[in-house]
Amino acid sequence: MARLADKIAEHYQYIGIDRDILITGAILHDIGKISEFDYKVKIDYSDEGRLLNHIVIGVQMIEEKLKNIKNFPDEQALLIKHMIVSHHGTREFGSPEPPKTIEAVLLNYIDEIDSKVNGIREFIAKENPGEKWTSFHRLLERFFYIGKNKEDL
Ligand SMILES: [Fe+2]
Repeated sequence: MARLADKIAEHYQYIGIDRDILITGAILHDIGKISEFDYKVKIDYSDEGRLLNHIVIGVQMIEEKLKNIKNFPDEQALLIKHMIVSHHGTREFGSPEPPKTIEAVLLNYIDEIDSKVNGIREFIAKENPGEKWTSFHRLLERFFYIGKNKEDL
């Protein structure tokens, strides 16, 4: 995601994209997942994760870190927290606020691209070797064409 963010920031340089904020968001947006899950026996939600969710935990973690950085600019701190808060895009998908800066809009799409591509790649990888088409992907409501590129996945 950070690599995508870097490329996109470079592309949108001409409109003054804040590359630092975008890359910071790409790296930190899911940082709260460190505490959202428990890894002791198997991966499962922790009590903190179930009660607070990774967006709230992430904002707390960032606030905690920023406390120790002297004179960190208030606006920057707010914008970084907004990246975390809004990265799921809509309230329906768990963001208390939708993206309200161009960087936050971009981060939401980068997250979407990354999860879609990885999800489809993993889906195709589980399919029968030698088939040209996957089975039906219920969530995305389509078959995917594997063709002859399966070995590369
Ligand atoms: Fe997330």
